[in-house]
Amino acid sequence: MKPFRIVPSVTEYADFASYAKEAGLGGEDLILTNEYIYDPVIAELDLGCQTLFQEKFGGGEPTDGMVDAILDTLRDMKYTRIIAVGGGTIIDIAKVLAVAAPEDKVDDLYDRMAEGLSKVHPLTIVPTTCGTGSEVTNISIVNRVSRGVKQGIVSEAMFADEAVLIPGMLMSLPYGVFATSSIDAMIHAVESYLSPNACALSEMFSREALHLILQGWQRAVGEGGKDAWKASAPEFLRASNYAGIAFGHAGCAAVHAMAYPLGSVHHIPHGQANQLMFADVMKKYAEKQSGGKLSSLSAILGKELHVAEKDGLTALYKLMDDVLKKDPLREHGVTEEELPVFAKNVVETQQRLLGNNFVPLSEEEILEIYKNAF
Ligand SMILES: [Fe+2]
Repeated sequence: MKPFRIVPSVTEYADFASYAKEAGLGGEDLILTNEYIYDPVIAELDLGCQTLFQEKFGGGEPTDGMVDAILDTLRDMKYTRIIAVGGGTIIDIAKVLAVAAPEDKVDDLYDRMAEGLSKVHPLTIVPTTCGTGSEVTNISIVNRVSRGVKQGIVSEAMFADEAVLIPGMLMSLPYGVFATSSIDAMIHAVESYLSPNACALSEMFSREALHLILQGWQRAVGEGGKDAWKASAPEFLRASNYAGIAFGHAGCAAVHAMAYPLGSVHHIPHGQANQLMFADVMKKYAEKQSGGKLSSLSAILGKELHVAEKDGLTALYKLMDDVLKKDPLREHGVTEEELPVFAKNVVETQQRLLGNNFVPLSEEEILEIYKNAF
């Protein structure tokens, strides 16, 4: 049985300046971020840190080409700590940089993963979205364009040393990013709760994450407007962190596995791709095995959403639709011919995630889920 642990220290700060002062940020530190995050908040602090702006190396989610180009640039720079300030892309890249020796390329890290990677730079992560929870996990997902697959690099050495939560960093998030990232965190909480690898402690973090997210969503939807969620920014950030702690232990499952081809082929943002698969995966689970933790989950959701226990999941789909309207896969450019290819690809490459399913799903069942979502 895998022991439950929270590896990075987790600290909340009122603002970036207080964190920078306490951490003594300076010339030996490398801040990996985006210019749109750096300019309004960090630049004026005159910290003297070295900087690297991810967008100069390409947009979207991390690819092997992007990370290799960053590694090439860093070869001539001398720095000790890495301070990653950003969303999922920045965090995933930073975890790879923290274990990469100066001569490494991304492929070398995948090759050495089985024997174990070692930490080269201490790593601090400051998340600026409320979704990935990736600041407390030791996995980085890179789209290996050269091989046509999104794959995780996992290593004990890829845990950050510090996760730093600063709710103010969320305030500049556009509504769409808030929506997809909080949906991602909600799905982390659900998938980790249902995972056969969950334990009482991870379940506690899953439940609390759900509580915070559902409360925040109900409040924001009730008030209306694109900025209403900001009043609950600290709760959404904490929820994302708690859900990260939960899935770091218990794992994500079929929803994430089936969302990956949507992201890598159609560039649908990660949280939204998860949303497109979520309800149909849950419905297939219920069809195969209605009791057990799926009933407990429905009861938790029913209580949070003020409906009968058996209607909890249905109420969740409705609330999620109010946060971000869900369209069928075909509206996102997915074609019917792709579905069997996706199903096969998921079974062949995502066993790490499928092993955490509430009930096992065959390739045929995975294809049915895709068809139902189509
Ligand atoms: Fe996710």
